[in-house]
Amino acid sequence: MAMESIYGGYGDILEEIKNDIQNRIALYTKEEYEKTGIKIYEHLIARVKSEESMREKCRRKNAPETPHTALKIMRDSIGIRIVCSFIDDIYANIRYIKQFHDCTVVEEKDYVRHSKPNGYRSYHMILEMESEHTDISGNTPGRFFIEIQLRTIAMDSWASLEHKLKYKKNIEDQELIVAELKRCADEMASCDISMQTIRDMINSSDS
Ligand code: GTP
Ligand code: MG
Repeated sequence: MAMESIYGGYGDILEEIKNDIQNRIALYTKEEYEKTGIKIYEHLIARVKSEESMREKCRRKNAPETPHTALKIMRDSIGIRIVCSFIDDIYANIRYIKQFHDCTVVEEKDYVRHSKPNGYRSYHMILEMESEHTDISGNTPGRFFIEIQLRTIAMDSWASLEHKLKYKKNIEDQELIVAELKRCADEMASCDISMQTIRDMINSSDS
């Protein structure tokens, strides 16, 4: 017998909300491009967290593996990662996102300005969106969570490499490796700042 989805009957609705948010991002991206000629982000990934990762996350957090946990306690069933060329573009995206109708920002973490101790950088926001669909708690309009991560290409490269290295457990020289990873993160962050400065110089010289 097939096991019930961790999202209960909400799998399709999550896909629909994810697509809706993606369309809104596409709209402001077009608007910004027509206004400035700038592509406000380099690339974007949008996904509904897989059944397996959501179940794994529930277990890791000692929460019951139920649709209620997946939709109301975990807030990243819908995840969007926006990878930008320059630091300022991160904040430009955030300004647009904050104007989305029916969406409230319920959590914000600026790991761009305040990096994690290991060097991780990114801007995280959790949106709560009102939707015509009744949610699992019985609210109409329903309320659904979306996690948005914004980073530069450099921050994304670092996070991706660091994530790969995390799987290697019990390695010798742990402390040295942690320190070296942090050093790389800081060097890459320093390049991001230089690239932003170069862009500002170019922009101010062609006025
Ligand atoms: P969750 O319970 O997973 O939501 O964690 P949290 O809310 O305590 O943490 P946070 O919002 O800071 O981070 C959530 C997500 O950011 C993770 O699922 C990763 O995608 C990413 N992330 C956070 N810290 C790191 C890190 O040190 N390295 C990498 N590679 N990714 C990170
Ligand atoms: Mg989180």
